[in-house]
Amino acid sequence: MAALDNNSIVAVIGSGAMGAGIAQVAAAAGYRVKLYDTHAEAVSKAIQDIGKMYVKLAEKGRMTAQEAQEASARLQAASSLQDVSDASLVVEAIVENLDVKRGLFADLEALVGDDCILATNTSSISVTAIAAKLRRPERLVGMHFFNPVPLMALVEVISGLATSDEVAATVYDTSIAWGKQPVHAKSTPGFIVNRVARPFYAEGWRLLSEQAGDAATIDAVLREAGGFRMGPFELMDLIGHDVNFSVTQSVFGAYFNDPRFTPSVLQQEMVNAGFLGRKSGRGFYRYGEGASVPAA
Ligand code: NAI
Repeated sequence: MAALDNNSIVAVIGSGAMGAGIAQVAAAAGYRVKLYDTHAEAVSKAIQDIGKMYVKLAEKGRMTAQEAQEASARLQAASSLQDVSDASLVVEAIVENLDVKRGLFADLEALVGDDCILATNTSSISVTAIAAKLRRPERLVGMHFFNPVPLMALVEVISGLATSDEVAATVYDTSIAWGKQPVHAKSTPGFIVNRVARPFYAEGWRLLSEQAGDAATIDAVLREAGGFRMGPFELMDLIGHDVNFSVTQSVFGAYFNDPRFTPSVLQQEMVNAGFLGRKSGRGFYRYGEGASVPAA
C-alpha cells in the first residue's frame, strides 16, 4: 500500500487547534489542503496562523523561505462543505460528539467521490460507531493526531470493525509521508494513549479535590520530580477542558460507567465557567502576553 499521491487534495473539517495543526503538517508535506469550519473566522485565523508558523520555521532554518511560501499557497479556505467534494482524504477535527460527527460524515458521504477516505481525529469515540451509519463504513478510519500536531510525532491509525485494511494502510503510509510515526490500533474506548492518560488526569483531580496541593504545585512536582513533560493541569489547559471532559465522559460511558473513569465535577465546573484553558485565555492558568501564570 502506498501513501496518497501528493497531488491529492486533503480536506480538513474543523479549524480549531487540531484542524489547524493537521492542515499545517499536510500542506508542508506537499499536499493541497482545503480547510472548512462552520465558523468562517476559524478558517481565516487558522490559515493566517499557519502562514506565520511557516515563516517562523523558515527563520529557524527548518524550511526555506520558498518552501514556506509554497506551503502557504497550498492552503485554501473552503466556504462550504460542497467545496471539499474533490478531496481524496477528509480529516475531521470537529467537536467530540458522536451524533455531530455522524451527521458530518453522512453529509460528506453524499458529496465526495467513491475513493475518498474519511478519517476522524476523534480522541475517544468508537470509530466503529462513527462509521456505522455510512453507506460504505469500510472507508472510515481513525487518524488520531496529538497536540500540538506539528511537534508530536505519534498518529494512532484506528480501525473500526468495518474499516478496510487497505484504507488503514493508506492512512498509515500517508502519516509517514507527513513526517509522523503512526501506529495501528483498534477501536477501543480512548484507544491507546487517551486510555492510559485517563488515570493521570483523574488522580490529578482527586488530589486537587482533597486539597493535597494547588494545581501549580501538583504540576511542578510531576514535571520536576516525576519526569513528566507536563503536569495534569497544564496539559489539560493545553488540550482544552471541554475536549478533555468530553473524552472522559465518552470513555466512562463506553465502559458502562466503570467508576475508575468517573468524570470530575470540578472539570465540569471549569467547562461551565468557560475556563477552557489556553484557547479561552483562562484555565488553571491565565494565557496572554508572556508566560502563563496560575489563574487563582
Ligand atoms: P477546537 O474546539 O479547538 O476546534 C473545533 C473546531 O470545530 C471549531 O473551530 C468549531 O467551530 C468546529 N466545528 C464544530 N462543529 C463543526 C461542524 N459540524 N462542522 C465544521 N466545523 C465544526 O477542538 P480541537 O481541540 O481542535 O478538537 C477537535 C477534535 O480533535 C475533537 O474530536 C477532539 O477530541 C480531537 N482531538 C483533540 C486533541 C486536543 O488536544 N485538543 C488531541 C487529539 C484529538
